[in-house]
Amino acid sequence: MKATLEKLRSSALGEIDSSGDIAELESLRVRYLGKKGGLTAMLRQMGSLSASERPAAGALANSVRADIESALAARLKGIEASALSEKLLREKIDVTVPGKRAEAGHRHPMSIVLDETRDIFIGMGFAVAEGPEVELSLYDFDKLNIPPNHTVREWSDTFYITEDESVHLRCQTSPVQVRYMEAHRPPIRIISPGRVFRRDEVDASHSPMFHQIEGLVVDRGITLGDLKGTLNALVGHLYGEGAKTRFRPHHFPFTEPSCEVDVRCVVCGGTGCRVCKGEGWLELLGAGMVHPKVLAGVGIDPDEYSGFAFGIGVERMTMLRYRIDDMRLLYENDLRFLEQFE
Ligand code: DAH
Repeated sequence: MKATLEKLRSSALGEIDSSGDIAELESLRVRYLGKKGGLTAMLRQMGSLSASERPAAGALANSVRADIESALAARLKGIEASALSEKLLREKIDVTVPGKRAEAGHRHPMSIVLDETRDIFIGMGFAVAEGPEVELSLYDFDKLNIPPNHTVREWSDTFYITEDESVHLRCQTSPVQVRYMEAHRPPIRIISPGRVFRRDEVDASHSPMFHQIEGLVVDRGITLGDLKGTLNALVGHLYGEGAKTRFRPHHFPFTEPSCEVDVRCVVCGGTGCRVCKGEGWLELLGAGMVHPKVLAGVGIDPDEYSGFAFGIGVERMTMLRYRIDDMRLLYENDLRFLEQFE
């Protein structure tokens, strides 16, 4: 009996020691310690031993059981530990694998042009001012020296909010000039980008809502030369140093003298093409020297101060910049179009 128990112990410990996984270990446990296992069978035979042999055999059987149990536990720990380190090795992170980039959106082409323009003017010392889109006719018309019979005041041109025509959606960013001058004294150097509204049908070059950037400089001794230098710097930045401008006489009620500024056609270089309609020049903006009446109206003495102002269409600037031939593309939000910029 003693020899058989010893044999069972050494073969069990040997097999447990060399077992490779949890399933194998479990089948060893059943084989040695289970109900039909080797040790259990031995214990059953205890009954046939004499009373004097029984205690020693029982003690030996218990110590065999304890050894097998602790060997099983130790081996289980070992198998689990090596499984974990294998898993860690297998699942380690390769930091050299290229990352997955989150899809970033694109700036709208008009935002690109607007951001650049803002940067150019800020670089020249301008501040950025804002004004309301729902505006008093007093600011959009009267204080800008636009007389009551002027065509922009027609119902067919302007979106009135009130029956008495005193409030409307602004048709230009120029009222910001007046609002700013009422709140600030010279020297003044601002631009003011924003939405404007006119009763226009949608086509390739018109929309009832579009964007302008207003500019205003007021100080002692400001001349038309300052206006030309500033606008030439803008055009040079936007369309390249070689871009040429042309200042053409024009009329605006709030400037005197007034002009329109053209840039030499960016498509044909001035020889004449479909985009410039054979002219060789493209109209970019309106500008002029702030009218003395406008200055006096906000309490700035026109004998002491002078200023220039301009208004640029952002859609137009963007279309010239990227050679877009239909304004509707700027509003349709078709990704195939928008993703081409930036
Ligand atoms: N407000 C004018 C328009 O919408 C553009 C303009 C012209 C603005 C001359 C100015 C300016 O500031 O001096 O057509």
